Amino acid sequence: MKKQGLLTPIKINDRVIANRAVVAPMCQYSANEGLPSPWHFGHLHQLAISGAGILMLESTAVTMAGRITYHDLTISSDEHVVALAKLLDHLRYVSDITVGLQISHAGRKGSAYPPWIKSGQSLTEEDKAWQTYSSSPIARTEGWPIPQAFSLSELKQLAADFSVAASRANRAGFDAIEVHMAHGYLLHQFLSPISNHRSDRYGGTLSSRCLFPLEVADKVRKQWPKEKILGARLTGNDWLDNGWTIDDCIFLSQRLKEIGFDYVCISSGGILPKTNLKFTPGYQIHLAKAVKDATSLVTRTAGMITTPKQADEIIKSGDADLVAIGREFVRNPYFMNHAERELGGTPKVPPQYERILSSS
Ligand SMILES: Cc1cc2nc3c(=O)[nH]c(=O)nc-3n(C[C@H](O)[C@H](O)[C@H](O)COP(=O)(O)O)c2cc1C
Repeated sequence: MKKQGLLTPIKINDRVIANRAVVAPMCQYSANEGLPSPWHFGHLHQLAISGAGILMLESTAVTMAGRITYHDLTISSDEHVVALAKLLDHLRYVSDITVGLQISHAGRKGSAYPPWIKSGQSLTEEDKAWQTYSSSPIARTEGWPIPQAFSLSELKQLAADFSVAASRANRAGFDAIEVHMAHGYLLHQFLSPISNHRSDRYGGTLSSRCLFPLEVADKVRKQWPKEKILGARLTGNDWLDNGWTIDDCIFLSQRLKEIGFDYVCISSGGILPKTNLKFTPGYQIHLAKAVKDATSLVTRTAGMITTPKQADEIIKSGDADLVAIGREFVRNPYFMNHAERELGGTPKVPPQYERILSSS
């Protein structure tokens, strides 16, 4: 039997994904009142025709207060559903790629400037900072405001917000959703002992810190159609002494599998701006492998994967089932076209571009 590689299709639930490449979710900070702007149409259009198996849309806030910046995509009203459905219509006109949405809440990382205005800084009062919330009243780092801890009744509402966001994403027509539990955002703020110092049932032991994210996962699972794809983005390591570890991540992945999640994407870092993380090509692959080996869940890796050969090797070696590529897909939207040629596949080119991309 031919060894599986980057170009091998994979079936997740009822859906056959054409190959193992996923366009990683990438915030564009270009929305107005949470609604996609013309930027999203252009940016996502070129990624939709990339020939990847899945296109993940950026982190999209489940409430307006859950945004990272004033310019995040949001899915908190029917108006957002209509606008996202229109965006999807556009993407479906140009491609049959599987399209997913990442749903998120920024917690203490919210009320920030877009990175090109002031990188890694929270809004000032003058620029209409809003009150942020987290698991515990601990600032992200120096110069950031102290968030308010969510009360038990607010957490109940928040879990409901995630599940309503899932049903809205279904109505908008997405094929997949991914709950963002990584990169230092709210659900990660519950998971990590660095940010969660609660003394109620949502803090303390590993299983207590996992409780709220798992309640969210459970509610989302109940809202999201069984035949569509449901995943989560997790942290495999905080890269800090006394932080979240890969064993913790395996525990969480196993619980998500039991709830009925179809895949996990194992990322890392982000709970604090400064960690011991060293960025090297494929620096997170071993984390995905550890989760895949322990749980047999469909596992996605990401992080400095930039060549077809590297991506192909990851799948061939069985380290992960899916490979998310972010920056390289923007630098080179025809990455998969090159990959198909290099790896002996058949490039999938929009007919309008056939004479352009098939000729030398
Ligand atoms: C501009 C930008 C925006 C990003 N936004 C998100 C996001 O919305 N959600 C997420 O989970 N990761 C986000 N990431 C992380 C990427 O999904 C990816 O994991 C990271 O860029 C590493 O992969 P790469 O080396 O292939 O770019 C973002 C990264 C970049 C560069």
